[in-house]
Amino acid sequence: MWLPCRCATKYVVASFRRGVSASFLHVLRRGRSSWNSAAFMPESAGFEGVSGRDALHDYSVSHGESFWDAVARQRLSWIRPFDAVQDCDLSQGRIKWFEGGKLNVSVNCLDRHVHTCPERVALIWERDEQGSEVRYTYRELLEMTCRLGNLLRRHGVKKGDCVTIYMPTCPLAVASMLACARIGAAHNVVFAGFSSEALAERIRDAQSSTVITVNQGVRGGKITELKRTVDAAVQSCPTVRQVFVAMRTEKRVEMTDRDFTLEEEMLKEDVVCEPAAMDSEDVLFLLYTSGSTGKPKGLVHTQAGYLLYAALTHRYVFGYHDGDVFGCVADIGWITGHSYTVYGPLANGGTTVLFESTPVYPDPGRYWDMVERLRINQFYGAPTAIRLLIKYGDQWVKKYDRSSLTTLGSVGEPINTEAWEWYNRVVGEGRCPVVDTWWQTETGGICIAPKPSEPDAEIVPGMAMRPFFGIKPVLMDTEGKLLTSNNTSGALCMALPWPGMARTIHNNHQRFLETYFQPYPGYFFTGDGAYRSQEGYYQITGRLDDVINVSGHRIGTAEIEDVLNQCSAVAESAVIGYSHNIKGQGKYQRVYAFVVLKKGVDIQEADLSKQLNSMVSEKIAKYACPDFIQLAKRLPKTRSGKIMRRVLRKVVDCDLDGLGDLSTLDDPAAVQEIIEGHEKLS
Ligand code: WT7
Repeated sequence: MWLPCRCATKYVVASFRRGVSASFLHVLRRGRSSWNSAAFMPESAGFEGVSGRDALHDYSVSHGESFWDAVARQRLSWIRPFDAVQDCDLSQGRIKWFEGGKLNVSVNCLDRHVHTCPERVALIWERDEQGSEVRYTYRELLEMTCRLGNLLRRHGVKKGDCVTIYMPTCPLAVASMLACARIGAAHNVVFAGFSSEALAERIRDAQSSTVITVNQGVRGGKITELKRTVDAAVQSCPTVRQVFVAMRTEKRVEMTDRDFTLEEEMLKEDVVCEPAAMDSEDVLFLLYTSGSTGKPKGLVHTQAGYLLYAALTHRYVFGYHDGDVFGCVADIGWITGHSYTVYGPLANGGTTVLFESTPVYPDPGRYWDMVERLRINQFYGAPTAIRLLIKYGDQWVKKYDRSSLTTLGSVGEPINTEAWEWYNRVVGEGRCPVVDTWWQTETGGICIAPKPSEPDAEIVPGMAMRPFFGIKPVLMDTEGKLLTSNNTSGALCMALPWPGMARTIHNNHQRFLETYFQPYPGYFFTGDGAYRSQEGYYQITGRLDDVINVSGHRIGTAEIEDVLNQCSAVAESAVIGYSHNIKGQGKYQRVYAFVVLKKGVDIQEADLSKQLNSMVSEKIAKYACPDFIQLAKRLPKTRSGKIMRRVLRKVVDCDLDGLGDLSTLDDPAAVQEIIEGHEKLS
């Protein structure tokens, strides 16, 4: 793997940490000074009469044009300034920001910081092997990015092409993303835990000619054969002309004519690479995510609006200050990794940690050992990992010095009160605000979070609470009417557009409109339900559609059914999310599958379950495997043949009184059979 010159870096880290700290912001952080909007957010100095967080939020939604205009001019470096702040119409699903403007995202993330502080550390690669972290300065990351940009150009990758990146979280993956941005190509990062078929599907849909991968991945002490997975995938991807392979381990892997060793090729390239001047609305990346129906959808994010929103939320939700070390442990294959490991921190000139390992490798103290060693200030993780670590006991946390921590973030699924309190009390010693951040691949960045808030404002455990600047959440009832009062629950929608939101679904704008804009005309529909408290704070209650959130991983029931139905023993299936309520761990979702066998098939349940699990992990990923499989003679259906999932959900939730209207059911006896089958299983 491409390694920087270590001695130079060490010197730099020390001088950087000495140099840039005691700004007025540190005083604010201790809460000594009262909230002053202009001091908090310098670009708000021109907003007349605005003082206090709530006033600034009100201004950002009532004077959106002026708010985003000021922020975009001051936060981003433009090659050409924009002509119009926005041209959006949610009723049409039209979203355009900063048109007429030209910029380059990699210049905003790299060159401008290299001009002011070339030796500042941009990346700390926390390798799987504990204690072997490697630092990369902004100068080194720019150099890597430029070599990669030149390499891609020399190999025919052009503006508008899409490069698929199938790599673990590592510096060359970040440089690959930025190299795409530099030459105007879009990237499509595919989580390295996805199977070859899932990868192939995404490469085909994105029509990539180029794939970047590693010989092998290393995670939790285990080797994964990523190059082999790519080899299997590209067999069914006629568009792929070339595969670049970085060497994460020493192991030589089989190379064909279309494969190149990335590091060798990079050495041939120049360290200067002319950045492409991109329009604000050119595509920056595609990122595939699951929907309630059909195949995963490639959400499209564009240049200026996405970058601005990632940068602004990174700075203000987490209270990131110059010189801080930001530790987001999400994989770069997810949107969290895109916005808060890569783009947000780098646009802010920050130091960001690339976490390659797992929370329990080599032992359950891994996160906190890393916090101590790297002096991490903001730690951003997932409730599923917190729940897991609670089980191992407090001693794994207390062993390490966590005094550097100032903020603890949570994302991906609701964080139950017990986990919230443990995170706050044990990890953060009660000093650090816990910010539960709600957002989605579609939103590009955090939309609802307890911070920013006035210095002494309360944070309610397990609540995402406050909309970010420019965000106007609303709740809708089942008839599509706006719920205006507090202390109420409904479908969570957004009444205003914001710069970070996705612009379309790659190759399927119609699906984009149908999914997000048609359910509640004039609003963006999130797919989630939420509760608004008496005080006006938001709490997310979970998905309202056929999407399951398995420990923060999102998966469509239709995708799993599609795989189950391919099994030769299976006639049909129905998959639902099963809310498990475990004492002390709160509610979380598991995958529950109903399976109807073909007539005459005789198979042991254990064999069937083994077979189905291996099919799902082969075709999608391990996390999508059913936790429960219930065999059924038939599924409850309407007379028109639609499976009544509502009924199945009520049965597994043991809410038989809530079965509701069964009059459209084709054969009511089917429900009784399902109930009996479920009772046997549980
Ligand atoms: C779905 C989006 C945003 C990055 C990670 C997941 C659920 C996300 C929270 C939270 C409750 C949450 C929602 C959302 N979700 N954050 N703080 N509280 N639920 O991104 O894969 O696009 O999934 O994750 O259901 O719709 P994603």
